[in-house]
Amino acid sequence: MKISVIGAGYLGATHAICMASLGHEVVVVDIDSEKIAQLAGGALPFFEPGLTELLKKVGESKSITFTTEIAAISESAIHFLCLGTPQASGQLGADLTTLNKAFAATIDVAPEGSVVVGKSTVPVGTAERLAAELQESQKSLTLNWNPEFLREGHAVADTLEPNRIVIGANQESDTALLSDFYRSVAPNAPQFITNFATAELVKVAANAFLATKISFINAMSEVADVTGADVSLLADAIGIDDRIGRKFLGAGIGFGGGCLPKDIRAFLARADELGLGDSLQFLREFDLINQRARTRAVALALKELGDPRGKKVAVLGAAFKPESDDVRDSPALEIAETLATLGANVVVTDPRALENAQVKVPDLGYSESITEALRGADLVMHLTEWSEYRELDPLEVKKVVKNPIIFDGRNVLDVESWRKAGWKLLALGRTL
Ligand code: UGA
Repeated sequence: MKISVIGAGYLGATHAICMASLGHEVVVVDIDSEKIAQLAGGALPFFEPGLTELLKKVGESKSITFTTEIAAISESAIHFLCLGTPQASGQLGADLTTLNKAFAATIDVAPEGSVVVGKSTVPVGTAERLAAELQESQKSLTLNWNPEFLREGHAVADTLEPNRIVIGANQESDTALLSDFYRSVAPNAPQFITNFATAELVKVAANAFLATKISFINAMSEVADVTGADVSLLADAIGIDDRIGRKFLGAGIGFGGGCLPKDIRAFLARADELGLGDSLQFLREFDLINQRARTRAVALALKELGDPRGKKVAVLGAAFKPESDDVRDSPALEIAETLATLGANVVVTDPRALENAQVKVPDLGYSESITEALRGADLVMHLTEWSEYRELDPLEVKKVVKNPIIFDGRNVLDVESWRKAGWKLLALGRTL
């Protein structure tokens, strides 16, 4: 099928490349000519495992084209809107400027009878507003809302084998084309055909629930700090109950990235507008617990370092999570920056995110070499759980650092082997 993807960011590029790999003819439009040139040249503007290889394959088969001209969508049957909806500056709510502009440009040139599909994460009520604009324009186009659940680092598999498809529309018959399209993409994925509000809410409710699980366990971690309990064992023991589940009960320095933090804030802002502030008040608390995890990590480091000035802190990890080069709202980078502001000599290493980290926080020390980052360190902070760091040999690392003290901000290191090698281990919610 001929389809178009408007917005070549993380979501759009992944969706477009994956759909082209299934044989669809895909036109990708973005106003950022540099990004378009890069993609057309076979390079991704971000890191995602497996996606560059797929781009190379579809590029060779010529099933995908990249352009800055919105008119190029004029032969597509479906247009996927994949625009970013970041947190508005100085506010909790989302900034929909780019989405609104792209929507207007799309309906202007989309051919009669085609379907416009919103994939961006939006405040509930947005699709209904856009549908009203569509009606006013008197174009014979259909609007569907089809949220995306892919995770960075697993985006290819999540797109090609989605665990669910959600399609919101004004009426069920409006969803026929998109529903058939996804039947061919993912025949086994259950489809939920809903109204607009439900589709929009499924997305933000899912992210709010994930954030809730993480902040719940980090609240337990605060309790464990005071009472002497062990939050990791607590998570194992409550998570074994499959009504609760162990996933997303990883206590530590908390969640970051371009989705969970801004989505719960946008949800709060929308709830306030709807007079539902009290119903989602808990998300405000969970945002605060999440921020506190970062300050607790800094406090623990300071307790160990004493006066941080002139002390070397080796930071393992800058990305908000492993298998990603994304440093948006990264707990690791924020902790590193705070320690540096307090006078520590911080050297950060990361297998993929150094370039982005350097752009965001230019004043930190950075090293591509793990050994150089660790050399002479008074304290090691393990903040992003890349497998490279989990597999480090504690005996070898000990030879390089000044003091064998490591803070495990993700609670994934093998405590026994580090301890046996003579290390002092620090963690939140655990006495090690
Ligand atoms: C999240 C959702 O998981 C996706 O389903 C959703 O599609 C996506 O947002 C989105 O809205 O686009 P992502 O931001 O890629 O995906 O990252 P997650 O894997 O959810 O991790 C988020 C953060 O939580 C990371 O900083 C991670 O380190 C942290 N985390 C995760 C914990 O602190 N503890 C855990 O147990 C799990």
